[in-house]
Amino acid sequence: MNLRTIVISVAASTLALSSCTPKSGMDSYIDSLMGKMTLEQKIGQLNLHSAPGFVSAMKVTEEDGNVKLLREGRLGGIYGNGDVQYLRQIQQIALDSGAGIPLIFGMDVIHGHETVMPIPLALSTSWNMELIEKTARTAAKEATACGINWVFSPMVDVARDARWGRIAEGGGEDPYLGGEIAKAMVRGYQGDDAEISDDEVLACVKHYALYGAAEAGRDYNTVNLGRQEILNGYMRPYHEAAKAGAASYMSSFNEFEGVPATMNSYLMDELLRRSWGFNGFIVTDATAIAEEVNHGIGDLQEVSARSLKAGVDMDMNSDGFIETLVQSVKEGRVSEKDIDRACRKILEAKYRLGLFEDPFKYLKGERANEIYTPETKAVAYEAACESQVLLKNDGILPLKGNERVAVIGPLADNPSEMTGCWSMSSKAGDCASILSGIRRHCPGATYSQGSNIFLDEQFEDKVKYGLIRMFSPSTPLPKAHALPQSALVADALSKARGADVIVACVGEITALNGEGASRADICIPDAQKELLRSLKATGKPIVLVLTTGRPLTLGWENDNMNAILCTWNLGTEAGNAIADVLYGKVNPSGKLTTSFPYHVGQEPLYYNHKNTGRPHPDYAPYQKFVSCYIDVVNGPLYPFGYGLSYNSYKYGEVKLSSTEMPSTDGSVQVSVDVNNEGKMDGKETVQLYIHAKYSSSTRPVKELKAFRKVDFKAGETKTVTFTLTPEDLSYYDHDLRWVCEKGEYDIMIGPNCNDLKGSTLKVVR
Ligand code: BGC
Repeated sequence: MNLRTIVISVAASTLALSSCTPKSGMDSYIDSLMGKMTLEQKIGQLNLHSAPGFVSAMKVTEEDGNVKLLREGRLGGIYGNGDVQYLRQIQQIALDSGAGIPLIFGMDVIHGHETVMPIPLALSTSWNMELIEKTARTAAKEATACGINWVFSPMVDVARDARWGRIAEGGGEDPYLGGEIAKAMVRGYQGDDAEISDDEVLACVKHYALYGAAEAGRDYNTVNLGRQEILNGYMRPYHEAAKAGAASYMSSFNEFEGVPATMNSYLMDELLRRSWGFNGFIVTDATAIAEEVNHGIGDLQEVSARSLKAGVDMDMNSDGFIETLVQSVKEGRVSEKDIDRACRKILEAKYRLGLFEDPFKYLKGERANEIYTPETKAVAYEAACESQVLLKNDGILPLKGNERVAVIGPLADNPSEMTGCWSMSSKAGDCASILSGIRRHCPGATYSQGSNIFLDEQFEDKVKYGLIRMFSPSTPLPKAHALPQSALVADALSKARGADVIVACVGEITALNGEGASRADICIPDAQKELLRSLKATGKPIVLVLTTGRPLTLGWENDNMNAILCTWNLGTEAGNAIADVLYGKVNPSGKLTTSFPYHVGQEPLYYNHKNTGRPHPDYAPYQKFVSCYIDVVNGPLYPFGYGLSYNSYKYGEVKLSSTEMPSTDGSVQVSVDVNNEGKMDGKETVQLYIHAKYSSSTRPVKELKAFRKVDFKAGETKTVTFTLTPEDLSYYDHDLRWVCEKGEYDIMIGPNCNDLKGSTLKVVR
């Protein structure tokens, strides 16, 4: 049956209650509202569509498919448009149609809105939770000023495989750190209390669950993990977000245990709702229900029914719910109770947002002056400063200021490449380029583009413009190679010869990471690598400034560059923040949250792996019959937690307040003295790892359990103290019980996961 033919005859605006809705009494309000809604209207609330023209302002016309659906009362929300005028009109149509229920307005506000913050992977390398919360707070303010009240963030998928392009969107490979980031982001978006004020938004935690564990790093691929492994290695960030009160979750594209996540009742019902107590709503990822047909589960009616029953409340862009659920009720495949459950969740979210009291709460249009302000840019600058990781420095950095500098590379004068993935609402062209930032310190710096991205023009064209061609085929596009590679390199060499130092700005363009951007070879693209080799041949010192959304293989670069600064995609203030680090105005303090491999064949590569029965030291050469490779070491080039600054920090011995701790209610203070041996003030992230020597199940060789980012004056020593409890040593055992087992634990502290000092703690009854 085609629901589009059903005429909803309820008079406009008759059902929603008047504007003086009391804040208390949500249940009775919703009971009363739902009591007056038809089945079709309830199902309409479960339907989410993207706005036409995605992101850009639109005139509302009757040809707009969403308008037709709205008039029929078959749309609960719209996402992807942040134009207040458009949203006001759409909202009015919703109020005048069907049950007269206001729409919820969602958006992919992932790392900032118009003011772009560093991509999430970059932000995670700041290890600064207050700062991360502040970026989300700032984004919420800007988004609400544009009419948005629901953001599709935080993305908290643990990712261990750098081939996966969406590693850029999350907090890296560690579940503990990921959990801390998830909490900070949820607080930033939703505020500290249950109330959602007019500059706060509902968060949507994604992608639930395990999307980051796609086999071979290939996007949307199968996930093949056991329950114990997911609970210990992957689920913590989702769980922490639920504890922090996240209002919604987005179900993911992948399968788990042979069942697509979007119809997986273990994930959504058993774990998220029953075990963790989540009581918000679950939306699918875009077209995820329709994709269950491709997973081979059944036709649209079957997969829609199963998704609803498993716990989905809102269908994003599949039309599975509006097209099939009425029929499924008739056939008894789902009950009205299932639909009522989902509808209630959506109405609760709208109630929580205050939309029944004032459907235009976020659409006043008076807050344009809160967008892209000096204050929002100051947050972006601070975040960009703390999200850079200095990977190598032979002493060339910081630059002194009197050198002749040649800034070379296709990412040097490229403002729109600074924003990274998911920054559709940004003022990308306004971003500070690396060149402009450097010229603030060194006005005479010369510039050369130096190379194309890839040597193969056709391939470069496909990568760069594929998305534009898909969505807007008539857009005129420039040639992928405006100039031949040889001419670009020749110009770069002439500039390089006239300089004392080269700043080479290369790496990934944004199209190389994010969604649908898996790479089988995660190196610096070939044309730029060729440029680096040519520059090296000049004998001039080279500082490599790396733009990237994922760990890359940098073995050659590590051997041949004088310094490497990993700058990811840092957003609006990228160039200023990068230049301030290069010139020592800012002391770099970022530390990696993903392992950087020597070779792509090491992927998935993560520090918290198991020991195996035939372990082999990380950097030992090949040996037969142990767990290693013939042609590359096991360990990473740059490990998790690693990052240099312009100081060195000396760590003292690890001291425990007691060498024993009861397994039930004990606690132990772990402390270490850290000395800033350098001449600059700086920030150091002190990291605490544990290792259970013997457990009833196998455990990782190291697990991060605490960290603190500390400010140090030049020469200053501070004692950093952590409190460890049995909770910190607990894990899910083979029977999936959360337990702290008796026995010995290594308690280790240091500047990164490969440079630790330890002490032993015995857990007793
Ligand atoms: C992505 C989500 C995103 C959604 C809406 C999907 O393709 O996987 O992360 O929130 O689109 O744009």
